[in-house]
Amino acid sequence: MQTHAISQSKVSRQLHLPIIEDNIPHVPQIKKSKFSDTTVVSNKTLPIHRWVPWIAGFSSSFVKEALREYSHGGIVLDPFSGVGTTLVDSICKDCHAIGFEINPYAALACRVKTSFAKIDVSELAKTITDAGEFYEQKVHSSYTPQSMPPEGFKTRHTFYSDAVLRKVLIIQDFIALIQDEIIRDVFRLAFASNMVKFSNYSYEPSLSTRASAGREDIHDFPVGQSIIEKLTEMLSDIRLVNKKTGNLHAQARIINDTFFNYENYVQSESVELIITSPPYLNNYHYNRNTRPHLYWLDLAHSPNDFKKLEQKNVGKYWQTVREKANIELEFSLRHSDIEEKIRILQNLNPEKGIYGGKGWANYAATYFNDCYKFAKGIQFSLKKGGIALVVIGNSILQGMMIQTDQYFGQIAESIGLELLDIEIPRKERVGNSIIQSDVRVEKAKKADKLYEAIVKLKKV
Ligand SMILES: C[S@@+](CC[C@H](N)C(=O)[O-])C[C@H]1O[C@@H](n2cnc3c(N)ncnc32)[C@H](O)[C@@H]1O
Repeated sequence: MQTHAISQSKVSRQLHLPIIEDNIPHVPQIKKSKFSDTTVVSNKTLPIHRWVPWIAGFSSSFVKEALREYSHGGIVLDPFSGVGTTLVDSICKDCHAIGFEINPYAALACRVKTSFAKIDVSELAKTITDAGEFYEQKVHSSYTPQSMPPEGFKTRHTFYSDAVLRKVLIIQDFIALIQDEIIRDVFRLAFASNMVKFSNYSYEPSLSTRASAGREDIHDFPVGQSIIEKLTEMLSDIRLVNKKTGNLHAQARIINDTFFNYENYVQSESVELIITSPPYLNNYHYNRNTRPHLYWLDLAHSPNDFKKLEQKNVGKYWQTVREKANIELEFSLRHSDIEEKIRILQNLNPEKGIYGGKGWANYAATYFNDCYKFAKGIQFSLKKGGIALVVIGNSILQGMMIQTDQYFGQIAESIGLELLDIEIPRKERVGNSIIQSDVRVEKAKKADKLYEAIVKLKKV
């Protein structure tokens, strides 16, 4: 497509996008998006999508529009599946889907959500009734639960009160009796997606004690009722979606591994459409924020398991790279200021040592090195003519705006993908607690806003 320099464009001024010099070639067209808002909030009321909240998910309406416009029935890939928004909508459209997700709890959510057509609905209904009876009978007796809290799960403040813990363990006892693997996983997911609600922790949006958010601890809670309610909602969603979609042939393949191992799982040039959103350059710690889920579901057993996950996560997190010697970009881009930006960042707030620009520049460089690997994975997987829609947010580090979408587009172009355009479905997004901290935002220019962009790429 024809590309245009956008300096002085009205849209760029409105959106506070970078003013790009006219003499720089290959500048994508940046425009307001015809896609719906990508924000995940609307998923909260949609069948199946509402099962598991995930802070950084994107909306099902965006995915459906993307499928309508770009899918012709071929394989859809989401390299960073989260809780499976792309995968669920793809199989509902009867397209085979492949999803990579390193977080085992999110991968479980993907697996259960995409299994809706395989679940024996009457068996699930019966098991929910049995669970209600088991729970009521045990709760009101002198029953001592057999299950134990996960050994490795340590928190600074008591996670569950004694009364809540007993009820949680009764639920675990029931889950352990379920023979059917998919139904057991439906129950595990129903428990896990609710489990923080009756704990002394909450999401603000990172996981912290209720006390630190000025709330009272939870001394007691109708745990069983809350989980049965969730399961009943899941059952009615399954019935509804099965009725709506009829007989589906499509399968979802969930790979609980880093996308960077794509060559082990994906055939080259086999994918028609990629719809995805990688972690943003905002250090949101998916793994720490799912510690309770991972331990209680027996998916993590020690801090070492978390270290491994951190290393695999796109960008590896500021905490893991801040103390290293200056990390360099592993690629170079012509006509880009990315290297200069990282150098400027490196030299900001030197008095703060690794907490200043130096540490954050290491994180940004690691993040963009992973973006480079990600772009190569797109190039490898897509068929000729295939499209990738990558939802990505900009970032503000040490008060400095980093246009992640622009840089990702440039990286993709440098390895031979065609950058069709960058669309902005959301002018402003609310950052997480880390990005909104004073270090990053107070010093940011007033004009700098957090936004979300869709980077549209084509394999040529
Ligand atoms: C922005 S979220 C995706 C949310 C998703 N679009 C949804 O609607 O649920 C990014 C996800 O990428 C996962 N992730 C991070 N690094 C990864 C890697 N190297 N390979 C696969 N998944 C990764 C994170 O665990 C997180 O769930």
